[in-house]
Amino acid sequence: MGGVRLCISPDPEQTCQALARAFADLAVRAAADHGHLAVALAGGQSPKRLYHILARDYRTAVPWESVYVFWGDERYVRPDHADSNYGTSRATLLQHVPVQTDRVFPMPTTHPDPAEAGRLYETALRATLGEPPRLDLILLGLGDDAHTASLFPGSAAIRETVRLVMPAHGAKPPRVRLTFTPVLINGAAAVYFLVTGSSKARAVKQTLQGPDDPFRYPAQVVKPRHGEVVWWLDAEAAQELE
Ligand code: 6PG
Repeated sequence: MGGVRLCISPDPEQTCQALARAFADLAVRAAADHGHLAVALAGGQSPKRLYHILARDYRTAVPWESVYVFWGDERYVRPDHADSNYGTSRATLLQHVPVQTDRVFPMPTTHPDPAEAGRLYETALRATLGEPPRLDLILLGLGDDAHTASLFPGSAAIRETVRLVMPAHGAKPPRVRLTFTPVLINGAAAVYFLVTGSSKARAVKQTLQGPDDPFRYPAQVVKPRHGEVVWWLDAEAAQELE
C-alpha cells in the first residue's frame, strides 16, 4: 500500500483498457474484503472512453451491485445539463451497468447554496462510508494547468484542512463547482489519475517532477495518507518525464 506508480501505454485506448482492468480487479478485491467498492468518478472528457469500455466489456466482471458511486467534483449545473459530470457518467456508464440507484450519489447541484450542498454531500459520504469516509478509489483527471478535480491553481480549497467537500471556482467553465478537498482525497485507499494527450505533458512533468508547489500545481496535493497513487498515462502525456 502506498507510493506512486506510473502505468504508461502507447495510446488513449490502451491506457483506458489497462485502467479498466485495474478498476475491475480493485472492485472484486474490495467487494471480497469489505462487501463493496466505494468509487468517486472523474469528470471532463478523458474518462468517457474508460466509462464506455467499462460499460461494454465489464458488465459482468465488475460486481456493480456492490458499487457505491460518488463524484470527486461537479460543475454547479443541473444533472441534465450537457456539462454535468454526473450526466456524462450516467450516459456513458451508469445506465449500462446494474448499479443500484440508491448507491449512486450525484452532488446536489440543484441546491440554491453551494456551501450547503457541500455539507449535504459530506453527510451522505459519512452516512455511507463512516467517519472518516474512506473511498476505495478516486478517479482524477489533470488539466493542462495541473488542476485536478476542481482544485484550480490559487484556489483556497487546496489548503483546506477541515471540510471534505466545498465550493470552488474554476478557470475552466462552468466556473462554479463543488470539489473534494485534499482532506477527503488523501483519505482514499487508491487514487488513479487518467491523463492522455500531448497537451497534458507539461502539467504531468510539473506535477511529478517539478518544484513542490501545490498552490501552483494543485495535483501535487494528492498524497494519500494510507493509499496508493497510480498515474495511467499514454505516451504523449508522459513524453516530458525523465
Ligand atoms: C472537470 C474535471 C477536471 C478534469 C480536467 C481534465 O470537472 O472538468 O474534474 O478536473 O478532470 O480538467 O479534463 P479533460 O479530461 O476534459 O481534459
